[in-house]
Amino acid sequence: MIEETFVMIKPDGVRRNLIGEVVKRLEQKLMTIVDIRMEHLDQGKAEKLYEMHKGKDFFDMLIEYTISGPVVLMKIQGEEAIMNCRIVIGETYPEKRKAGSIRGDFSPYLTENLVHAASSKQDAKRELELFF
Ligand code: CMP
Repeated sequence: MIEETFVMIKPDGVRRNLIGEVVKRLEQKLMTIVDIRMEHLDQGKAEKLYEMHKGKDFFDMLIEYTISGPVVLMKIQGEEAIMNCRIVIGETYPEKRKAGSIRGDFSPYLTENLVHAASSKQDAKRELELFF
């Protein structure tokens, strides 16, 4: 089934010049970028994006990192796009990451993990409405 989802290249991905690498890997998997723009998120928008993590001990650190530089916001369309974008990006926890995924190949860190992708149909809808 064709779906739409939200993917964001985080400030470390932009700083490390990995925009092209991330786009290439998503497109290789036949995910189509239907909208894209760069933005430096403010605290309010970052807190809205990550509202499900409010109250967790890493929340403040996550927000500080998310607003530390410009990000790339993308609307992606493709076959089972929510699941497939997450496969391309890789696991949240470093010990579970596989080589061949973006995080597996480029990030040893838990928080600074280069790319975000919506994790469910409901999150995809909410996050797309927030930014597009
Ligand atoms: P992301 O997939 O964008 O979703 C939430 C983000 O919070 C996650 O990537 C990490 O950057 C960060 N994160 C998740 N769990 C932790 C944790 N236990 N400690 C620190 N950061 C975390």
